[in-house]
Amino acid sequence: MLKIALIGSTGMLGIDVNSAFKGVNCLIKNYNSKNLDIADARSVSEAFNVFQPDYIINCAAYTNVDGAETEKEKAEAVNNTGVKNLADSALNIGSRIIHLSTDYVFDGSKNLPYTEDDAVNPLNEYGLSKLRGEEALKKSGASYIILRTSWLYGKNGKNFVNTILKAADTKKTIEVVDDQFGSPTYTKDVAYAISEIIIKDNSKNEIYHLTNHGNTSWYKFAVEIVKVFKRTNCEIIPVSSDKFLRPANRPAYSILDNSKIKEDYNIELRPWKDALKKYCSDIGYFII
Ligand SMILES: NC(=O)c1ccc[n+]([C@@H]2O[C@H](COP(=O)([O-])OP(=O)(O)OC[C@H]3O[C@@H](n4cnc5c(N)ncnc54)[C@H](OP(=O)(O)O)[C@@H]3O)[C@@H](O)[C@H]2O)c1
Repeated sequence: MLKIALIGSTGMLGIDVNSAFKGVNCLIKNYNSKNLDIADARSVSEAFNVFQPDYIINCAAYTNVDGAETEKEKAEAVNNTGVKNLADSALNIGSRIIHLSTDYVFDGSKNLPYTEDDAVNPLNEYGLSKLRGEEALKKSGASYIILRTSWLYGKNGKNFVNTILKAADTKKTIEVVDDQFGSPTYTKDVAYAISEIIIKDNSKNEIYHLTNHGNTSWYKFAVEIVKVFKRTNCEIIPVSSDKFLRPANRPAYSILDNSKIKEDYNIELRPWKDALKKYCSDIGYFII
């Protein structure tokens, strides 16, 4: 039976990955920061020498984008050293790694969707630490797939959809930036795609972009959220990102081109508006 080590099993994506494998004949072992610190090389190698997984799915990360500006070492420890430790162990025991990365490896200066071959140039410490993790994995000699995704939301984590819903219940207006463009992506769709990749695995070492289809701005995303979740008594107001100065710079454009994963694995995630409606019904809101 296929053995899978799921790292970051308590995170927003990790929880959905665990559920996505429910119908698959495999043994999953869950790891989070409480039972395995991936920044500690010895603990990682001890854990995997015992379990001997066929696959390591790495959903663990330091994901506080603004926090990483002041907590560089913490971000590096998880997003770079942690990935290197997983990769070194994977090489030792012959496991294949499926590693999650981000659209924030790009600087947003392009105005066409980013392909896997486009030049990277992160604008913030989080993006830089994630990029170093990608590079450590590629260099390690371990077998890998890197999945770059973007603007994630799901039931089990802090995210933009839940933030807008909470604000809409208490405020008459919400200001949202209208000059940053990307693809909102439902964690359940990424999780299911990961299970499909493992089932169809072609064993090649590749980076893939994987987001829900289509794109939007944060403002238009917020407008759709209040519409789908019936919070239309709250008005969403478009503003420029200059109005919301935050510790970390974000790319103005981080739309990812998903055609490579469609070509290699026949995987194509549904349009982002459909995914948002599915999220709404999954978490128990009535939609007309
Ligand atoms: N969120 C987004 O919008 C977004 C966008 C693009 C890409 N991504 C990428 O997608 C992946 C999943 O993100 P997410 O939002 O689901 O993350 P998340 O909810 O913040 O979860 C992070 C997970 O990492 C674990 N973790 C943190 N430090 C650890 C350590 N030292 N050792 C072991 N485990 C550790 C946490 O465990 P504890 O619960 O025990 O702390 C948790 O399970 C990440 O690679 C992220 O970079 C996210």
